Amino acid sequence: MNYTALILAAGKGTRTGLSFNKVLYPWQGKPLLQASIDRFAADPDCAQIVLVCAQHEMEEFQARFSHPRLTFAPGGETRQDSVFSGLQQASEPYVLVHDGARPFVSCELIERIKSALETHPAVIPGLPVVDTIKQVDENGFCINTPVRSSLRAVQTPQGFDAKLLKDCLGKAVNEAFLATDDAMAVEQYGGVSVLCVDGDPANVKITGPQDLERLA
Ligand code: CTP
Ligand code: MG
Repeated sequence: MNYTALILAAGKGTRTGLSFNKVLYPWQGKPLLQASIDRFAADPDCAQIVLVCAQHEMEEFQARFSHPRLTFAPGGETRQDSVFSGLQQASEPYVLVHDGARPFVSCELIERIKSALETHPAVIPGLPVVDTIKQVDENGFCINTPVRSSLRAVQTPQGFDAKLLKDCLGKAVNEAFLATDDAMAVEQYGGVSVLCVDGDPANVKITGPQDLERLA
């Protein structure tokens, strides 16, 4: 199956407290982002890698990252805008959208997503939730306790039929529907069920200072 890996790197990394974009944080002698690029570049089914980066960092990223299958797209204000921008360049029938801030993505997880994509047009990885989750109101009072066994904490890469994701995100952008992950736009507009397969506990997103310490 030929697919486009759409790797997101156009955020600011505010929560890390770093003075620069966290995807450039040095790890194992390279910028963090290189790990995700290398993982997808090693997969022969990955026919194209689109790296979405902020306009003001474009030149720097083009100088630091290169691969015969790598192209660049300008990021947007929100993660959803960045995905939509990258999708305009996607040339393959399937797309795997991945956070550049998840350097531990494994080939096993990529294979699990690809294999489910053969029979389902939208597939995301998720982990069972270990804590009880409460929904609270604006004053902090508990209003609902969802059944824990039905909850999943979702990760990337999220895999889609490329046309389906493009159509659904197009509608979301038009209607100013802000989805917090890519699957949400498909749930809202796609008319198909999104399948959640097993995620990988090691596939954490580097988000705060404690995650940077974990890299050391
Ligand atoms: N991202 C993006 N475009 C945006 C916002 C985020 O491409 N407008 C990317 C980030 O670069 C990151 C991924 O989406 O790889 C996941 O987002 P997040 O962890 O929130 O990263 P940042 O937005 O960079 O961090 P923060 O929210 O702390 O500023
Ligand atoms: Mg963010």
